[in-house]
Amino acid sequence: MKRVISIIICAVLMVISVPYANAAATPKLVAITFDDGPSVYTEGLLDGLAQRGAKATFFIVGNMASARTSVLQRMVNEGHQIANHTTSHPDLSKLSAQSIINELNGCANYLKQAGGEQQYLLRPPYGSYNSTVRNNANMPIILWSVDTLDWKYRNSDTVYNNIINNTTDGSIVLLHDLYKSSVNGALRAIDTLKERGYEFVTVNELFRRRAVTLENGKVYSAAYNKGITLPATEKPKSVEITFENVYGGKQVSLTCPTENVSIHYTTDGSEPNENSPKYTSPFLVTSITDIKAVAYNSQLSDVSFRKIWVEPAPAPAVSFENSILTLTPSENTTVYYTLDTSAPTDMSTVYTEPLTIDRQIDLLVRAVGKADRRITYVSTAYGKLFSDIKASGWYYNAVSEAVNCGIMTGVSEFEFSPTGNVTRAMFVTVLHRMSKDAQTEYAPASFVDIDNNLWYAKAAAWAQSTGIVKGVSETEFAPNVNITRQEMCTMLARFFEYYEIALPVTEREAFADADTIAEWAKTSVDMLYLGGLINGVGDNLFAPTNTATRAECAKLSIDTYKTLNK
Ligand code: NI
Repeated sequence: MKRVISIIICAVLMVISVPYANAAATPKLVAITFDDGPSVYTEGLLDGLAQRGAKATFFIVGNMASARTSVLQRMVNEGHQIANHTTSHPDLSKLSAQSIINELNGCANYLKQAGGEQQYLLRPPYGSYNSTVRNNANMPIILWSVDTLDWKYRNSDTVYNNIINNTTDGSIVLLHDLYKSSVNGALRAIDTLKERGYEFVTVNELFRRRAVTLENGKVYSAAYNKGITLPATEKPKSVEITFENVYGGKQVSLTCPTENVSIHYTTDGSEPNENSPKYTSPFLVTSITDIKAVAYNSQLSDVSFRKIWVEPAPAPAVSFENSILTLTPSENTTVYYTLDTSAPTDMSTVYTEPLTIDRQIDLLVRAVGKADRRITYVSTAYGKLFSDIKASGWYYNAVSEAVNCGIMTGVSEFEFSPTGNVTRAMFVTVLHRMSKDAQTEYAPASFVDIDNNLWYAKAAAWAQSTGIVKGVSETEFAPNVNITRQEMCTMLARFFEYYEIALPVTEREAFADADTIAEWAKTSVDMLYLGGLINGVGDNLFAPTNTATRAECAKLSIDTYKTLNK
């Protein structure tokens, strides 16, 4: 069966190849190969090959590759072939089957890291092999038909002459990139042979164009012209990246004008190659994404790049009064909602008219070409609406009450920012609002970093006059600096002292991290802790230097407010 198929393939190939075989411009092919590297001369060789548009095959020694893995990567990137020349360059015909396998695997690991074609070739060191080598290679075995003896003479003229005098159409030339003389002689020979109509191809490409399918364990040393020369694979044209606006974002399609290519792409900004994820069908992009794509046959196309801009669907305008929520969706958007805390989908109820919100509404906003936007609004116990608090949060009651009493307000109309930090200006404002001197006029604060027209100016004036909150220095108040939990306690304790309010003293277990509380804060933390106004953060820890959160501030201030108004 296999034989019948190969006869058919041969017949087809011969028909295809006739115009090329007869064409005057049919190039002569040669595979130039370099063994035993990479070495210190290899990068210069790659530069020379790139200038001449010549491809080569490198039979890599694993122990040499370990110090120069980036050179292997460069070979692959520049269209050369990398292949296996064992790990430590032993005479394989003297080794056991297992040792042979180990020698080949050690080198293969370096080849795999560099990518490239995954079907590797073996060149046994010294060209030495036996049936054990053939049976365990699991690769085609490639020898040579032109031996330059470069290692022996180390003379670039000899290398040059040996190549041009012995190369014929289909030769495989043996060289070593260990010697400067080999590199120089080879590059000169490439120039001469190119003038004589030779094309320099990799070993795989040589056999492909001669319509020879390489078989594992079989030995090859040339691919002479027997009347078949297939055309070179064309470098694929660049991939076109297009998109269509769909619900949820943009549907991206990748196409290549060149036929019989695979398309590979990345979305993380990295350079794609033939080992990158393969494109199979259009995919949805839901945020701003850099798409890079290449097409591959045996060559890589240039990289195509397109930034896909996807914005979230616009949020509806919101108003909330007497527990009635009115939404004004933007044009071309649809708002779905649930009232039972389940996540809404495009099967959920569509918003059409004002709704009474008892506790929570979950919205899904969809628009063509935009990413889905999800918003959860939670109503406080007193009918204030926030999009960033949780009905199940430990702070829910404290936030509800603190906002209702007017001690704290949201950071914007519908945001409370429960996990946000508390600045010195914020906390002094909370204390001021709770004090019985909230209506008293004080001389403006004299700190240089306070703008006396800002929202916290009155609170700062009160704080300086009463001495409840001191500046961070004689002249500075640092209004925008965040406060820690122990700083919050110190300020609050001074507040109680100033207004001569005594807190109860109850027995409580000491915090496990009590010794990490600063000396200047210890009395204050004790006073509030034993007075029942502050608790730990869990695990019997106080975490004195943690930045205080707005939810913690709400809890502490509402408890203080209740103590004051008992
Ligand atoms: Ni060798």
